[in-house]
Order: sequence, then C-alpha cells, then structure tokens
Amino acid sequence: MILLVNGPNLNLLGEREPDVYGATTLHDIERMVTEACAAYGREVRAFQSNHEGAVIDFIQENRKDARGLIVNPGALTHTSYALHDCLKSISFPVVEVHISNVHAREEWRRQDLIAPATRGQVVGLGPAGYYYAAVWLCTQVTDPVLGEYDADGGPVEVNPDDVATDETPPPIGGDYEG
Ligand code: DQA
Repeated sequence: MILLVNGPNLNLLGEREPDVYGATTLHDIERMVTEACAAYGREVRAFQSNHEGAVIDFIQENRKDARGLIVNPGALTHTSYALHDCLKSISFPVVEVHISNVHAREEWRRQDLIAPATRGQVVGLGPAGYYYAAVWLCTQVTDPVLGEYDADGGPVEVNPDDVATDETPPPIGGDYEG
C-alpha cells in the first residue's frame, strides 16, 4: 500500500493559479499514481485535506498498512512542525512532491520544515513529479532482484514475473507550463 497525501488547496488543482500549477486536476494525479503503482502490484490510498490535523490523522491511521508515502503538503511545508514530527514517527520512506519550483518563487517558500523528515523530494517538475515519486517508491519496496521488503526492512521473496519492468511515461502532465 502506497499512501498519496495532498495538503491544503491542492483540491483546487486545475483551477488554482493555472500559470503556476497547470491544468491537471487532483483527480488526474490520483489516477496517474494509482496506475503507476498498479504496474508494480501496489495499491494506492489517496487523501486530501485542507486541515493539518486531518492530514496527520490519515497518515497515523494508515501507517500499519503503508510501505511508502507520497506527500505534497502544500503550504504546510513551510509552517508545520507537527507534520514534520508525524513523518519522523513512521518507518516507511516518504517522498515529498512540489508541483512548482518552490525555490524559484517567494522567499518564504524556501523554508521547508518537512524536507528533513523525508527520504527525498521531487520539486518543480509539474504533476509528473508524483509519477516519479511513485515509481521510486515502488521500486524500493518491490525490487525484482532483492525481493520485497518486509515490515522490518528485511527482504522477502517476490516473483519477478509479477513485477512490471516496462516503465510507461507519465500519461498526463504534459500541459504543465510552470
Ligand atoms: C506547492 C508549493 C507550496 O508552496 C504551496 O503552498 C502549495 C503547492 C507545490 O506543489 O508547488 O500549495 O506545494
């Protein structure tokens, strides 16, 4: 199970500042990530909220099932020590995604309180960033050579025939111009 979490205002993707965030909707992104993970035999549980506590509750409630988390915290990135602590308390890898290049925008967006609690970030590549995060996470948790990692991080056997090897490019996101 891969968790896909989007924070405040990302429900408005497609109509919100299209010159910055493009025309792709959150529904499109959730479908893209679901299909990308399905190619690796992984299900996705997607969630969006405008409320910090709801985001933290969702991650906590699903932490036992999850093998990875893709999170775009929206503006919580720049403000939330609570989300930082939440991500520090879970055992699976976290990939932070930002559609826009936060480093090339307002000064305050360069402060990222979440980054130190993540494994890595994909920043400024548009909606395709979610796709790359999904593929990275799936290839970490299901490696055709090393096998699947169990809850304690140790490898267990997986049938290579069950693992897709032909990576399809992102089906959406080409309209992104930010
Ligand atoms: C964002 C960047 C944040 O600074 C902003 O508050 C968002 C979206 C992005 O995806 O580029 O809501 O996380």
